[in-house]
Amino acid sequence: MIATEKISIQKVSKSRLPEIDFSNIPFGKIYTDHMFLADYKEGEWQNFRIVPYGYMPISPATPALHYGQSIFEGMKAIKSKDGSAYVFRALDNWKRMNISAERMCMPYIPEELFMESLSALIELDRSWIPTAEGSSLYIRPFMYSADEYIGIRPSENFTFQIILCPVGSYYSTPVKVKIEKHYTRAVAGGTGFAKAGGNYGGAIYPAKMAQDKGYHQLVWTDGVEHKYIEESGTMNVMFVMDNTLITPALSDSILAGITRDSVLSLARHWGMKVEERRISVDELIAGLEKGIVTEAFGAGTAATIAHIELIGHEGKDYHLPPIEKREFSNRVYKELDAIKSGSQPDPFGWIT
Ligand code: COI
Repeated sequence: MIATEKISIQKVSKSRLPEIDFSNIPFGKIYTDHMFLADYKEGEWQNFRIVPYGYMPISPATPALHYGQSIFEGMKAIKSKDGSAYVFRALDNWKRMNISAERMCMPYIPEELFMESLSALIELDRSWIPTAEGSSLYIRPFMYSADEYIGIRPSENFTFQIILCPVGSYYSTPVKVKIEKHYTRAVAGGTGFAKAGGNYGGAIYPAKMAQDKGYHQLVWTDGVEHKYIEESGTMNVMFVMDNTLITPALSDSILAGITRDSVLSLARHWGMKVEERRISVDELIAGLEKGIVTEAFGAGTAATIAHIELIGHEGKDYHLPPIEKREFSNRVYKELDAIKSGSQPDPFGWIT
């Protein structure tokens, strides 16, 4: 257990908060005054500290830079009407971070370290939580190898860190996606289920190819036959087909998204028919042609729900119904926001 008093706190001498234009916050470009760090050395976590946000010295020989030995999480905090800061499903992110850590040969992060450092940092920078509709404080915990060694072996030293970032919407418009049948995000036996940095780095080039053709993102297919839908962009993907909510079943090439789980839980709670199973590209295209795919969206922490307006496949674009007609995804987006901000009861115990 790290008692919170073990976290040393060095505060900024002058906050940058007055310089920030909260009426126009892009995603991922503004960081709060402070950040949290802990070092893993000689088999234990130590040196818990909150320091001013800023550049850090790092060994040029660290495997984090050379071999991508780094993992991360994404969470959001929202300020409720009474001024409390609510964090959504923090314990689930903590659990998933340890699943990623195990896969990437990194040390276990104790619950107390994760939760206490998170509370201490958010408490200190709570005035950075934006209050405009659709905005929140994005929380980015991450861990990387801090060894100074460019051979390949399990590292011995690591840094666990948290930075905070006030954010508006991730996507400013509904998204256009293209089904990708050449490049692969993840394969069976790989690291796709882990939130490992390299999974995202390797996806940038194929996504850029699609962006050059006017799409925002890709729909990833399986790495063996490119026949089955896996994820979309950096999110899980869901469809409402024939009044049933359908999403690819989890596997070792699909991230167990916490927004994914939240959407499925709400759908089941509302009595909607839900299927977690394989969805082939052929089935999706046939459904689009017949007009029975009434909704499609990405589900992830950063975007929450990213409505998909169009799906491109083999040179043809399939348009989906207008966003305002999408009953389920609009309802789930509103409900999740309301639960996150504490303005709606939280029957699932998701809020800290
Ligand atoms: C998230 O939704 O938190 C993500 O991981 C997306 C991120 C890569 C921007």
